[in-house]
Amino acid sequence: MKIAIIGAGSGYMPGVVRGLLHRAGDLAGTELACHDIDAPQLDVMTRLARAMFAARGASFTVTAHTGLKPALDGASYVFTTFRPGGLAARHLDESIPLRHGVVGQETAGPGGFLMALRSVPILLEIAAAAPPDAWIVNYTNPTNIVTDAVARTTGARVIGLCDQFVGDTEMWADLLGLPFDRLEAEWIGLNHATWASRLRLDGTELDVPSLLDGLEIPGGGATPWRDPSRMAELAKSLGFLPNSYAKYYFFHDEVVRELRDKGTTRAQDILAMLPAYREQVAAESRRPDPDPSRERGGGEHGEFAVDVICALHRDEGRRTIVNTRNNGAIASLDDDAIVEVPAIVGRSGPVPLTMGALPAPVRGLTQAIHAYERLASDAAVTGDRRTALQALLAHPFVRSKHTAERILDEGLAAHREHLPQFA
Ligand code: G6P
Ligand code: MN
Repeated sequence: MKIAIIGAGSGYMPGVVRGLLHRAGDLAGTELACHDIDAPQLDVMTRLARAMFAARGASFTVTAHTGLKPALDGASYVFTTFRPGGLAARHLDESIPLRHGVVGQETAGPGGFLMALRSVPILLEIAAAAPPDAWIVNYTNPTNIVTDAVARTTGARVIGLCDQFVGDTEMWADLLGLPFDRLEAEWIGLNHATWASRLRLDGTELDVPSLLDGLEIPGGGATPWRDPSRMAELAKSLGFLPNSYAKYYFFHDEVVRELRDKGTTRAQDILAMLPAYREQVAAESRRPDPDPSRERGGGEHGEFAVDVICALHRDEGRRTIVNTRNNGAIASLDDDAIVEVPAIVGRSGPVPLTMGALPAPVRGLTQAIHAYERLASDAAVTGDRRTALQALLAHPFVRSKHTAERILDEGLAAHREHLPQFA
């Protein structure tokens, strides 16, 4: 069996290697074809992977490729986890909208729109070059727009990943004083726009509104990924749990002010820590039993992805949360929408579970986000400027035509070299 990892030079790779180690027995003998256009980083990560596998006696074969074709040839799974344009492009995604009073946000915001324009053409190229029966297991963001574009324009089998629900469930377990390992939350909606009105503890349904009535709003504690204080405040009003990215919809203007005061983008913050991180990983890659930093992706990110690949490969029928075609699972969204939903994953792919309607207070918002995402996906595939403008006009963060036009014009110009479809 062969798994191609596209973007294997990424800082998230140590977590993927840990994920592979945790299922090494189930994947024994697998070839990992590691691909990246950054040859030095690819070199570090493949050396690290080989050393970590050797130290634990895991029987993976690691090959390294800077060309797509040899990485993809014969692959059963194509795991995509790259960031087109790197963090320099992310900085533009985050800063261009902010200049116009809009949160850029690399996935949910207009920043994510610009990233979709860069990601989609590469994913389409990968889908065309991959074996026709391969599964594309996609982590490249914005994962739902990318998955939608691949699903609608190619015959490829594709599944979109995001491990946000794991960390968010953990945050809610903390806030509500419940044990995380016994708690199950049914997150439904769209990637980075999911909601959970059903919670189970050891399989028993909890009364979420009364739990939230009793919840005290904690002070502070915000990290780049989570803002428990605002989430608690929001959940108490909604009566169900919001995904952490709800912050950008429901506290948009405050976040604009905070980002402006802060003065640096998340991309710049990561770029500042990257040299030390890379040095640590490179040093570990030369040790007999490497223990690379968990600063990027932690542990759950890699384990989640490898678990999904194992669920497909071993026909496990594993229940998890993925991005896939709705097919009626969420009543409030189109059947052909790519939704994030609990699903049973086995050899024939994810089968989404019937979840009913979205909660009324966020139904319209989520439908609006879907309308934007569909337009964004179309624009990314076709390179049609009017469709691109329509996508931004439909985006819930964008409240004026001229703002949409400025973000689009500046974004297309700044990312020109990565946008062949708009040439
Ligand atoms: C979460 C999201 C990912 C996103 C990441 C950004 O994990 O689910 O989709 O890419 O955060 O984290 P970063 O550390 O790069 O800001
Ligand atoms: Mn995500």
